[in-house]
Amino acid sequence: MINTINLPKAVQAMIKNRKQSFQQDKEYGYLIGNEGYVAADEPVLYDAITALALGKNVLLKGPTGSGKTKLAETLSAIFSQPMHSINCSVDMDAEALLGFKTIRHIAGKSEISFIPGPVIKAMTKGHLLYIDEINMAKPETLPILNGVLDYRHMITNPFTSEVVQAQEGFGVIAAINEGYIGTVPLNEALKNRFVVIDIPYIQAETLKRVLEVESKLQDPVLLDRFVMLSKDLIVQVKNGVVSEEAASIRALIDTCDLALYLPPLRAIRRGIMDKLEDAREKAAVQNIAETLFE
Ligand SMILES: Nc1ncnc2c1ncn2[C@@H]1O[C@H](COP(=O)(O)OP(=O)(O)OP(=O)(O)O)[C@@H](O)[C@H]1O
Ligand SMILES: [Mg+2]
Repeated sequence: MINTINLPKAVQAMIKNRKQSFQQDKEYGYLIGNEGYVAADEPVLYDAITALALGKNVLLKGPTGSGKTKLAETLSAIFSQPMHSINCSVDMDAEALLGFKTIRHIAGKSEISFIPGPVIKAMTKGHLLYIDEINMAKPETLPILNGVLDYRHMITNPFTSEVVQAQEGFGVIAAINEGYIGTVPLNEALKNRFVVIDIPYIQAETLKRVLEVESKLQDPVLLDRFVMLSKDLIVQVKNGVVSEEAASIRALIDTCDLALYLPPLRAIRRGIMDKLEDAREKAAVQNIAETLFE
């Protein structure tokens, strides 16, 4: 897919460079993602690749099931670069990010050693770091990463007192789902350290291509209907009639899979409608679905 994007020569050279340095990486090869993200418009991929190549941190901002994780995996594939992941939650602490100390028994002797966490691993290996749902973390946890995320690319590991400097190629991709329950607004200083890329729900032909690949349903007539369903749902999301997650591509893929063996309306109920809390929202989805499927 990357071949279809006309990247600047210097960026192409950087990609080639990184590919070469990680191709031999037998130990961490399993952390290299698979391609598969299909962009709504070319700038999404072009800008994300370019920003990463320039050593910028990239923040992918978009609703649930819009392909943020898929895009991060695709970027890892494009650079052939292993990617370490962190899933943020309220109880995430410095140890989950940086690692922890443990006692090891080697040849009858006990010694304290440090087991590096995802941040330290990615920094010391020059790998990518994916921070998912970054706004789910407690606001006081993330500032520990400020030095990692600015031009210094450096941290003093509080568990070992060692200064860790990131290797060439180290890069951070974070994902954020604004307004989602349980999230807190991202601290300004933290947000300031990222280049922000909006990830909207894909539609029309792009969506059809993704459904063809990602869902088991292959019936072209039904797939077209589901693409129309998505379009109508997005209109209703914009009108404020249904909540954003009703238009999730993930939910749509599940629904298409179910429609392989279930009547479409029931598949929609299981895959999309019954996840919504509000009875009016459910009714709105039901109405849209009934105009497209019987
Ligand atoms: N543009 C896209 N290209 C390819 N696949 C997509 C795209 N958008 C959504 N998908 C598919 O939809 C599903 C959900 O995508 P993904 O998990 O990346 O969403 P997300 O934005 O990370 O959601 P969340 O915020 O809930 O973590 C995956 O199966 C993914 O392949
Ligand atoms: Mg995700």
